[in-house]
Amino acid sequence: MSDRRAFLKFVAASPLLAAAAPPIVEAFQQGSLQQAADALDVFDFQAAAEKIVPPAHWGYLMTGVDGEDTLKANRDGFSRYQLRPKRFVDVSRIDMSVELFGTRLNSPVVLCPVGSQRAFHRDGEVGAARAAQAKGHLQILSTQTSIGVEEVAKARGGPIWYQLYTTDNFDVTTKLVKRAEAAGCTAVAVTVDLPSGRNTVTMTRSQRIDNRECGSCHQDATGNLANPRAGGGTNATKPMFAGINTQGLGLTSPSLTWDFIKRLKGVTKMKVVIKGLETREDAALAVEHGADGIVVSNHGGRATETGRGTIECVAEVAQAVRGRIPIVVDGGFRRGTDVFKALALGANAVGIGRPYIWGLSAFGQQGVERVLDILNNELRLAMVGCGTRSVKEITAAAIVDTGRRG
Ligand SMILES: Cc1cc2nc3c(=O)[nH]c(=O)nc-3n(C[C@H](O)[C@H](O)[C@H](O)COP(=O)(O)O)c2cc1C
Repeated sequence: MSDRRAFLKFVAASPLLAAAAPPIVEAFQQGSLQQAADALDVFDFQAAAEKIVPPAHWGYLMTGVDGEDTLKANRDGFSRYQLRPKRFVDVSRIDMSVELFGTRLNSPVVLCPVGSQRAFHRDGEVGAARAAQAKGHLQILSTQTSIGVEEVAKARGGPIWYQLYTTDNFDVTTKLVKRAEAAGCTAVAVTVDLPSGRNTVTMTRSQRIDNRECGSCHQDATGNLANPRAGGGTNATKPMFAGINTQGLGLTSPSLTWDFIKRLKGVTKMKVVIKGLETREDAALAVEHGADGIVVSNHGGRATETGRGTIECVAEVAQAVRGRIPIVVDGGFRRGTDVFKALALGANAVGIGRPYIWGLSAFGQQGVERVLDILNNELRLAMVGCGTRSVKEITAAAIVDTGRRG
């Protein structure tokens, strides 16, 4: 094994051999992946995906807002917390399972709603659903899904959650919700962090350098070219809006207030989860207004430019919620230790967005499965190291909050 490593190092360092054998050198130096199983961490998939995803789609995936301080804070925030190992605990059996609304899942890692997944791989949301099924994870499907909820729910073969953009027309909202419920979704996660636009600078820049002809994909149901350069297409191009008059329809509304939750609960039996809260005040209001769950989220640094990482919001939200409803957190989770920290701070589950899309882009279902395997294995090792044999045993005692980012 070490002989092979020494050989690869020698090859990589040799200018002569570099010219003679570029594929080996490239594989070694750039972490290219021949198959999903070659990936050692989720960043290997990021590198692999970047090579194949077209610039405009890559920009859509990777963008934050404004100067991307929040996007960066989502990663930097983890350095504020450190793990506290515990020795001589019998860790021969580790149970990573969690229960959400009566459904047992193999892991606390959840696939977040990400729109337009066919922009990354032809299998799109169905590829992600098959991976979620194979590994026993929860999937949350975007309103902006590129495949209808019925087909995705069938591929998952178990409960999924439906992410709802409120729209600005409650009749349309009701139609979306009823369709998701009929397809077997058990919860609706209503996203509240984008009431009125956002400033996705990186996405706009990447669209400017992508000179491909977009018309063949970005067409609406009537054959009119939707304008992807003005925000990634129109509602009319999305399967969840089939049969709905989208003329003048807003995907979200700036005038909504907390009454919306009661209204939503009035038209569905699904659990109502609020996605996009970051403070103790809003968490308390969510419980007061009957929310069944919260997703602590800043939309992956794509909504309000707060400069605050979501991991830094978990403790105050958990204090306000006091265990009354489950808390999911997402934003910047790339390591099992990140997941561990969130669970220690009081989250019940953790969402990932970009990492599984990197896996999907590079290898479809297999890529998503490998991303989940990697994160689960890293989480298992963190649990072993800290002597926490189940997710319940991961408490605040297992970490230190240093109070500042490292
Ligand atoms: C390309 C992309 C599309 C997204 N689409 C949606 C969406 O349709 N609805 C939604 O609620 N959140 C959406 N999100 C936010 C994710 O659900 C999630 O909050 C975020 O990606 C988590 O951060 P991470 O990507 O750093 O893991 C999207 C995120 C990305 C990167």
